[in-house]
Amino acid sequence: MPKNRWDAALYQDKHAFVWQSVGDLFNLLSPQPGERILDLGCGTGQLTQALAIAQAEVIGIDAAPTMIEQARQNYPDLKFAVADARDFQAEQPFDAVFSNAVLHWILEPDAVIRCIYDALKPEGRFVAEFGGKGNIRAIAASLYSVLSEIGCNSPEALSPWYFPSIGEYATLLEQQGFDVTYAVLFERPTPLEDGDAGMANWVRMFGSCFLDGLPADTQTQVIQAVEHQLKPTLYREGTWIADYRRLRVVAIKPGNREQGTENSRL
Ligand code: BEZ
Repeated sequence: MPKNRWDAALYQDKHAFVWQSVGDLFNLLSPQPGERILDLGCGTGQLTQALAIAQAEVIGIDAAPTMIEQARQNYPDLKFAVADARDFQAEQPFDAVFSNAVLHWILEPDAVIRCIYDALKPEGRFVAEFGGKGNIRAIAASLYSVLSEIGCNSPEALSPWYFPSIGEYATLLEQQGFDVTYAVLFERPTPLEDGDAGMANWVRMFGSCFLDGLPADTQTQVIQAVEHQLKPTLYREGTWIADYRRLRVVAIKPGNREQGTENSRL
């Protein structure tokens, strides 16, 4: 299911881990009172609210109208807008663009990076975390093998995910003109909520594009087969642990270079 048709209630109720454990990323952003900050892919608004608490002047955008509707209900005093990360324009430039757990859903990273660059002030910063190379390796491999077994050809081709390496993503940022000042790829095993139902919830929420069009009982069989394959490695003491691997980056838009400074000093 494309993100703009997401079930915001299910997302908010069962997937709070998406915006929890974001502390280090906030430290990297270091939001200052009065700064204009864009929360790109704000979902149901929890991190937009955290930025507002830091006294930033914050706007949250998301491509999914259901998410923005829920965000507005959650935080009626904050500004939210439906906008596509590949095609948006800032009315006023931002001091920082912040994004958590979103960019792996967008298969056109260069369009996103271009919009972010254009939305920033000179010396503005882009601080993001999302799935990096090797993210959900075991979950994806299991989905692909189960789907192949039931006759789906090349299930990988259905993948909606973009998990770049540091080299690949830093190159895109530099090609756009950013200075990349920080990039790290790290394992972040992530406990899923709801005990035994955690993996099934995850697959239904985030892997729905692989299930769409299959009869309901086949969907259940696929999920059960995935659970069976993954249980020895990703299930511990009543909790499913997703094999997340995050890419975290900080990139700075260069400041305006003063023109003619040398001559004017003559
Ligand atoms: C992630 O947060 O890494 C992720 C979430 C859903 C699908 C794929 C990756």
